Amino acid sequence: MSTRMDAALPAQPAESVQVSLQQDFDAGVHRWHEKYPKLGTGPVSVEPLVSRQWFEAEREYIYKKCWLHVGTVDAIPNPGDYFVHEIAIAKASIVLIRGKDNVVRGFYNVCRHRGNKLVWDYKGSSSCYLSCKFHGWVYDAEGTLRDVPDGERFYENLEGKANLIPVHTAVWEGFIFVNLDPHPTETLEEYLGEAGQRMKDFPFQRVPLQFHYQSYQRANWKLMLDAQSEIYHVRYLHSYSWPDVFTRPDNPYGHAYALDLYDRHRVGNWPGNKYFQPKDVEGLALGRSAAITSRDNDFVLPTGQGINVTNADDWGFDIVHVFPNLNILILPGVWHTHQFWPISENEALWELKIHMPSAATPSERFGQEYNKILLRDALLEDGATHEHTQDALETGAIERIYLQDEELFVRHSYWAVEQEIRARRDGVRDSLFDED
Ligand code: FES
Ligand SMILES: [Fe+2]
Repeated sequence: MSTRMDAALPAQPAESVQVSLQQDFDAGVHRWHEKYPKLGTGPVSVEPLVSRQWFEAEREYIYKKCWLHVGTVDAIPNPGDYFVHEIAIAKASIVLIRGKDNVVRGFYNVCRHRGNKLVWDYKGSSSCYLSCKFHGWVYDAEGTLRDVPDGERFYENLEGKANLIPVHTAVWEGFIFVNLDPHPTETLEEYLGEAGQRMKDFPFQRVPLQFHYQSYQRANWKLMLDAQSEIYHVRYLHSYSWPDVFTRPDNPYGHAYALDLYDRHRVGNWPGNKYFQPKDVEGLALGRSAAITSRDNDFVLPTGQGINVTNADDWGFDIVHVFPNLNILILPGVWHTHQFWPISENEALWELKIHMPSAATPSERFGQEYNKILLRDALLEDGATHEHTQDALETGAIERIYLQDEELFVRHSYWAVEQEIRARRDGVRDSLFDED
């Protein structure tokens, strides 16, 4: 591994850290550095965004070892429902299927006969049996081989024996995760740690999956994650789509209320614009559907203890980042997942799933569609920037980037990736926190 990876790790004295209470978003220009001094303040190397060596390390020590979110249980509500998730960086195709016992199980999507890809479609429903298109072998939802056409011509009875290869699969608060490590070192609950506890009270399952965007991008996955981890850019990049949704005259740069880091994960709490006045058509759409711009309408859900931890009455949104590649964006009444799936050091799939209340009337449907398009416009602004940034970094003109205090999540992202690689490769893991 390059010495640059090691050199990027800051080493500064630690102080004990507590979850913050609500604080004035203008207080202390370096307040997050004061809370997390071990992250340092220096420029950050661009090497992890352009290097094949980093990509290979991420493949071996992160994506083949960590718990990875692949979908939510509401995508497969009935026994026999299934979906397929491709994990390109690990060259894995996984089928997730709900059994007759309602347990969600994951299997490598590979037939045990001659290795055909078992399920070819993205999602579907079955009678709790999956059949291979090549020679018709049939597996049940527990992965057991149940039927082999012309089976007596084989030299042994393979039924119940040549079963699908299981993948470690676990569910947390309706989020399905898989772990490609044959022997995971942590349970999903241990892996999620305190960040998982923060998710516990939020009623995710009351707001169903409504639609799905995905975009193949010529950009490193971490660069895409960075752009969804700070609000600094909103005033500029989203001046057309969201000019005053999250920024406001007394908080023009969208400073946060609380940024809480864990060793791998992070949870942030930001205000919205309590003065926001939708205009024209937007005014008609809002109030008919929970949306990214919702503030107080009938769709707003209780947040529990872990989300909107400052209990801000002008709450805009929280981001729960689950390492390595999942951001859960939680807003009043709606929630989204953003995922960034590496394909190479400069290609990734950006997958966005939108959970909103179901529309019960045509006007609610109108509100939902309006918000879907508004979100698309903002995401196109982000997407174009990801690719331009990757292009610019690949010119080699700069070696480091500069981060300000409110970009704490971006700084933590590079730190956490490096820590995970070191921990799995070298058996050494630093902590953000005092160990005394
Ligand atoms: S490869 Fe699946 S039945 Fe032959
Ligand atoms: Fe953005």
